[in-house]
Amino acid sequence: MFLYRFALLSACFWAYPLLAQSDKLARGKYLVEEIGRCQECHTPKLADGQFDRTKWLKGAVQNIQPIEPIKDWHKTSPDLTAASRLWQRWGDAGVLKFLTTGVTPSGGSAGPPMPTYKMRQEDAEAIVEYLKSLQ
Ligand code: HEC
Repeated sequence: MFLYRFALLSACFWAYPLLAQSDKLARGKYLVEEIGRCQECHTPKLADGQFDRTKWLKGAVQNIQPIEPIKDWHKTSPDLTAASRLWQRWGDAGVLKFLTTGVTPSGGSAGPPMPTYKMRQEDAEAIVEYLKSLQ
């Protein structure tokens, strides 16, 4: 009986961080896909208007343009996946700072149409976790 309880307890002990981690990942995916809708600008679309799932969040040519010119308008968005140049340059800390403050590691800000997000730390952490899980 003792052994059984011990096994049960230790299984909970080991499973908890794993569960917490997958919760965080799921929350990051939800925030990216349903709240920030990052894919609208960071994923290319196919001719039929659907997202190209093989290039999920890998950066895209923007399919929107302002009617009146807007200074510093960007026609492309960068790759947000783990192997991208952005992650190599910014690292977790840089992306976290950007999502919570809107300020890039070099002290600037992103150009339009990239929105300025000032997220809560735990939301930004969940997003970082999710983006890092993408190939
Ligand atoms: C309305 C379109 C749009 C949406 C929505 C959007 N982005 Fe962007 N994003 C852009 C464009 C365009 C750029 C390029 C701007 C630049 O280089 O200054 C960009 C740049 C970035 C950069 C790099 C910034 C820099 O200064 O190099 C990061 C990081 C980023 N986006 C993350 C995200 C995340 C995470 C989300 C969702 C939470 C998101 N973006 C949603 C359009 C968008």
